[in-house]
Amino acid sequence: MSGTNAKEGPVDSCLYHVEGAGLDGLESLLNDDDLEELMILGYDKPVRVYHRESGSCETNLILDKTDIDELVERLRKANPYAGSSSYFDARLPDGSRANVILPPISVWGPAVTVRKFPREPISVMKLIESGTLNLDAAALLWLYVEGIWERPANLIVVGGTGTGKTTLLNALTSFFHEEERVITIEDVAELNMAHENWVRLEVPFGSGVTLDDLLKNALRMRPDRIVVGEVRGSEAETLFNAMNTGHEGVLGTLHANSAYDALRRLNSTPMNVPKQMLRLLDVIVVMGVVVTGGRRRRMVVEISETSGGEQDLPRISTIMKLERETLSLVPTGVPSGFRDMLAGRSGMSPRQVAEELGRRRSFLGKLVGGTGGFRGFYDHVQDYYRSEKSHAR
Ligand SMILES: Nc1ncnc2c1ncn2[C@@H]1O[C@H](COP(=O)(O)OP(=O)(O)OP(=O)(O)O)[C@@H](O)[C@H]1O
Ligand SMILES: [Mg+2]
Repeated sequence: MSGTNAKEGPVDSCLYHVEGAGLDGLESLLNDDDLEELMILGYDKPVRVYHRESGSCETNLILDKTDIDELVERLRKANPYAGSSSYFDARLPDGSRANVILPPISVWGPAVTVRKFPREPISVMKLIESGTLNLDAAALLWLYVEGIWERPANLIVVGGTGTGKTTLLNALTSFFHEEERVITIEDVAELNMAHENWVRLEVPFGSGVTLDDLLKNALRMRPDRIVVGEVRGSEAETLFNAMNTGHEGVLGTLHANSAYDALRRLNSTPMNVPKQMLRLLDVIVVMGVVVTGGRRRRMVVEISETSGGEQDLPRISTIMKLERETLSLVPTGVPSGFRDMLAGRSGMSPRQVAEELGRRRSFLGKLVGGTGGFRGFYDHVQDYYRSEKSHAR
């Protein structure tokens, strides 16, 4: 298993044929939903792509100075803060995000890297169907993220670069109740949810505004849910202060290789979250990339809870773990303190909580193979809440 910094698809590279030349050819690459990234290395060099199935590929498209300079000018106009900077980020009309680095920093001419976002986000059901997680793990994450109407967990998804952290985080937002007011805060707006009452904030590249500034504003906006795309700097402490003052169900991602590594990083510079505050984080989900049959697959490799720890880092209780031999995510048998807490708060017995978990698992099981995409899955989840509410009456 290779835990970090790897992508999906076969390990070998390939050749990818593009119809059309110049910027028209580039346009057809942008329209191909199977491509995750486009990479322009400089003048007169073959454009490279990262294909969802085939991995890293060279294309037959070669852009000359006129094409690339025109593209760069268009991108510069798309970001009001780009000015005359020799590197900047900009958003394309379809929502993709481009990073531009100009000569002399980029030696062979402008380097343009475009990260494309899927038109339709990946749902929890798609993640189950593709084996990223199983029904047991999905039901457990549902229980955490929603908290049985009582107390949603503060949860972070961690893993190496490109392991699918943001994708899982985005999918989990379908478990929020539709009436909740959600505020998302990101350096690069990637999250794409089905909620109506959703305020989407993004740090404009080159503006001097920070993620921490956005988070402080978000806290004044009466959020029910705060989702931070990627926690990496001083906003971490603000986020934990928010949890400390009663914000629940905070979600985010963090670059780390394990649950312990995540806690250690949160407690170190530049995040500097004090140890005694770290236990406000309830759940850590670890993503990884597993190589099977010559293919790389993004998978949930661990679901852990944190507890205790006054003087030291919190204790980590691993509730589910990926079994390497069978590649299935299995319960470790370690009891879930969070579920006991939910039982205590909601007046349910631990057995009733287990029954609710089982109901959600079988509800998800019935949806396998026919949800109708991201929006369809969200609607099913909201139907589940509505029917629970009417039972309770
Ligand atoms: N479980 C999955 N199954 C298939 N494709 C996935 C899965 N998770 C993510 N992807 C695809 O992999 C790419 C990277 O995913 P994502 O951005 O979620 O990773 P990340 O860990 O957040 O990356 P980064 O480290 O850049 O923040 C995206 O193109 C996404 O569509
Ligand atoms: Mg991410």
